[in-house]
Amino acid sequence: MIKRLAILTSGGDSPGMNPAIRAVTRTGVSHGIEIIGIENGYQGIFDHQFLPLGSLEVSGKIRDAGTFLATSRCKRMMENSGPADAIRILRENKIDALVVCGGDGSLTGAQKIHLLGYPVIGLPGTIDNDIYGTDTAIGVDTCLNTIIHLIDMIKATAASHRRCFIIEVMGRSSGYLALMSTISTGSQVAIIPEYRYNMNSILEALTRRIERRHNNSTVVIAEGVCSGQEFLNRLESQKEKNLNQEIRLTVLGHVQRGAAPTHFDRLLGSRMGEFAVLALMHGETGSMVATSGGKTQLRDFDQILGKKKNLPADGIRLARNLGIEIGDVMEA
Ligand code: F6P
Repeated sequence: MIKRLAILTSGGDSPGMNPAIRAVTRTGVSHGIEIIGIENGYQGIFDHQFLPLGSLEVSGKIRDAGTFLATSRCKRMMENSGPADAIRILRENKIDALVVCGGDGSLTGAQKIHLLGYPVIGLPGTIDNDIYGTDTAIGVDTCLNTIIHLIDMIKATAASHRRCFIIEVMGRSSGYLALMSTISTGSQVAIIPEYRYNMNSILEALTRRIERRHNNSTVVIAEGVCSGQEFLNRLESQKEKNLNQEIRLTVLGHVQRGAAPTHFDRLLGSRMGEFAVLALMHGETGSMVATSGGKTQLRDFDQILGKKKNLPADGIRLARNLGIEIGDVMEA
């Protein structure tokens, strides 16, 4: 029986983490469970940063970006003794179970805790949408809305100056954000880690566009491929003979993570947070709350962690049918 339950957020913050913390708290309170917020990710366990959470403490948090518990990438959890030490401290503080909201690395930490016999449920929280086994993660929708808002603004100045813009977006190892934002902003090229880009084809696509009297173009590059600056240098070195247009670079950076959660992410965070508490109450452990075809469900950590999530095939097809240049050769 769970009397005291803790929640922490870990890794890169993502919009919707606050609604998830709120839902865990409110669901716990509804069932007479004491809720502890652990500050600063896993590091907060080692530093004894335990914050009792009640209904009032999470009031209004559904609207806020980021995570009010704060987050970190904790080195100690990666040491061999880290997970066992964390469990010892949790038990000393009479905490019976843990909810971890974060990306792949954070959930791998949660799996280690589970394998040592401590009850834990994970929530997928990352803007990258690179977690296998769930259609989406908390924060992806908000991040994409932020990106398209920013690219729309860049489009306005690109059109006014008849320029080509290179726009670097986040996505350490996944091209999801780059691909989806290219599609929904009407950009011309998506450079993503999943496909090898072909500079000649890109230059041809951009030149064709000028020939067809479009006065601007936008190229979206995922940071996981290379920096926007590196790509711009390569493009500049070839453009003289191929492209008669000024080129500028915008690196969107951390603003991509900073917007207030959209309706979708507020609901997703709330649903997943509630589900995690109910799952732990029913004796579940060692799994992540996932969403598939609109249904919330549990997926065992060992079935999802360490597996590569592919870009959705219909997204690739859509991009190609819309004439977006993404490269033909898949990266291994
Ligand atoms: O994993 C989420 C993410 O935003 C990645 O897209 C990005 O590469 C990374 O975090 C940035 O991390 P940091 O906030 O430490 O600079």
